[in-house]
Amino acid sequence: MTDIHSPFTLGRIELQNRFVMAPMTRARANDDGTPGPLAAEYYGQRASVGLIITEGTQPSDDGQGYPMTPGIYTDAHVAGWREVNDSIHAQGGHVFYQLMHAGRMSHPDNTPHHRQGVAPSAIAPGEQIYTLDGMKDIPVPRALTTDEVEATVKDYAYAARRAIESGADGVEIHGVAYLVHQFLAISSNKRTDRYGGSIENRARFAIAVAQAIIAEIGADRTGIRLSPGFTGMGLDVGPEGPDLFRYLVAELDKLGLAYIHIVHYGEDNILHDFRRIWHQAIILNRPARPREDIGKDIASGLADLESYGAHVLANPDFIERVVLHAPLNTADHRVFFGNQPEGAAAGYTDFPTLKASRKGVQA
Ligand SMILES: Cc1cc2nc3c(=O)[nH]c(=O)nc-3n(C[C@H](O)[C@H](O)[C@H](O)COP(=O)(O)O)c2cc1C
Repeated sequence: MTDIHSPFTLGRIELQNRFVMAPMTRARANDDGTPGPLAAEYYGQRASVGLIITEGTQPSDDGQGYPMTPGIYTDAHVAGWREVNDSIHAQGGHVFYQLMHAGRMSHPDNTPHHRQGVAPSAIAPGEQIYTLDGMKDIPVPRALTTDEVEATVKDYAYAARRAIESGADGVEIHGVAYLVHQFLAISSNKRTDRYGGSIENRARFAIAVAQAIIAEIGADRTGIRLSPGFTGMGLDVGPEGPDLFRYLVAELDKLGLAYIHIVHYGEDNILHDFRRIWHQAIILNRPARPREDIGKDIASGLADLESYGAHVLANPDFIERVVLHAPLNTADHRVFFGNQPEGAAAGYTDFPTLKASRKGVQA
């Protein structure tokens, strides 16, 4: 039975254990999209997990959806991220950046060029989005032309190259809720070109992004996050959904990516299918997984690694607390995003470690 505390070889890196920090947007980047002043400390504090997957990071101006999220496509971004990586690597950790193109989940107030969001089709998600002036309706996005779809694929590849240049160990393609998923879903993709319609066509964008990134940095430094059961943000993959995801995973398997990272909702059947179809690592995220289930999917063989979001956000020493059966700090959604009135560290780098709590001081 494999133990979550045992090491794991992921592509070309050796992870000290099979805990993964799930990607979490924290909206604390500088105005130019460089990581904020405390990002290196925040991620460094959490480097005892085998792999850190960073917050969603836009590959281009068009890719930004929310205010104060970081990018990885300018020289300044590369320099800023280098400090973050140095901090993680100095503690023996490893890091993949999550490449997130928000697609239609965007607002002109939130992008550097203040343009309308772009998407497979001109269909608004019917939701509101956070801006620095409060919540606003998400406008109808502009449908990408076929040439622009191909240019967007290149943006991902360029960002991946810049990520490696900044010292990242790899990148994760964000395939849930945002642009990649908007191509997969029938509710957001009404295209009549080769990127819309059939299962093969709707999966083409995700596969093209993976291929382009692989050509830049190698399959062993590329992962993808998918969620067959995700139905938020106006996304509906339709009755063919399970077939679409099985097809996509099988095609991605041929490319030899380092991992798929599944955010799982619903029945486990599809996970068993993926285990059969997919020959590389599987990272499994079960939202709000009960504490007593930590390590279960690795022990059962369903996954190779397990990712945790809120617990790692609130517990820089999450693994130590798991080992010691110690109580966990709880994550308060009020501190998830943006600098807090109590100061930049609040809800970010000021969660106490067990040792600090026992001494009665803050970390
Ligand atoms: C504050 C916050 C920000 C998040 N941002 C992202 C993100 O940028 N990309 C992503 O794929 N998932 C994001 N998620 C989802 C998490 O990665 C994870 O799937 C989710 O929190 C469920 O896992 P958990 O119960 O262990 O927290 C975010 C979650 C939280 C709490």
